[in-house]
Amino acid sequence: APKTTFATLAAKKAAGEPIVMVTAYDHPGARAAEAAGVDAVLVGDSAAMTVLGYDSTVSVTVDELLMLTAAVRRGLVGPLLVGDLPFGSYEASDEQAVRTAQRFVKEAGVDAVKIERGGTTVERARAIVAAGIPVMGHVGLTPQTVGVLGGYRAQGRTAEAAQQVAADALALQAAGCFALVFEAIPSEATAAIVPLLDVPVIGIGAGPAVDGQVLVFHDLLGIHDGHQARFVKRFAEVGAATIDGIRAYAGEVRSGAYPAPEHGYAMAAGEAEKLHA
Ligand code: KIV
Ligand code: NA
Repeated sequence: APKTTFATLAAKKAAGEPIVMVTAYDHPGARAAEAAGVDAVLVGDSAAMTVLGYDSTVSVTVDELLMLTAAVRRGLVGPLLVGDLPFGSYEASDEQAVRTAQRFVKEAGVDAVKIERGGTTVERARAIVAAGIPVMGHVGLTPQTVGVLGGYRAQGRTAEAAQQVAADALALQAAGCFALVFEAIPSEATAAIVPLLDVPVIGIGAGPAVDGQVLVFHDLLGIHDGHQARFVKRFAEVGAATIDGIRAYAGEVRSGAYPAPEHGYAMAAGEAEKLHA
């Protein structure tokens, strides 16, 4: 597949061709996403839960995400690579935001960074774009600030709340974001807001009236065993297949069926006999 560029995403939106985005957190995940032909890969701060075992996204650090993002970069050729800036790494000032975004470009080779919310994030987005780094916005359910949202729940369920989502999305677009993620927003609200925007909108739990979808790797592959959001569809049962595989290995080690003769190495001709001489 040809390299995805920002122009590719805009062209897909214009043509009404859905954009496909998936998260990845390591080299094999990146290779799999590439082989499957996705348009874009996000190293989400969802890594906090999917691969690092934290119970929310707020704990993951810049250094932890940089290591994972660099591994994804080494596995990716065609898809656009977006790196999430974690909680606490961009909110304090434009300078902090630019410095963190620069680290993701220099140390992990991302094509763009993603930051959450409207409000003060609009200025952070403008500053990062002005420093020459493309930015993806993220509105609706923004897990980094779940405390002020009243939990992991849909946002924009009243007309007033939906108007706030629209205002945030328009402000982020005006600040120079090349695309936006809409997370957990009622389908009717999304359908009303997307036509107001020129940039591609990638939905997750935002219904069909968007320009593309993103899902978390571990969710769509059925690797997760914890709580599953309403918007998740499991397209495979990799978690169960993984446990089955390890259980079969354990069983064969315990029964002696593994390793078989073909899994062993042979000495050079005539050498084994000398051991017993
Ligand atoms: O961290 C993440 O995986 C995300 C996507 C769900 C959009 O931000
Ligand atoms: Na995220």
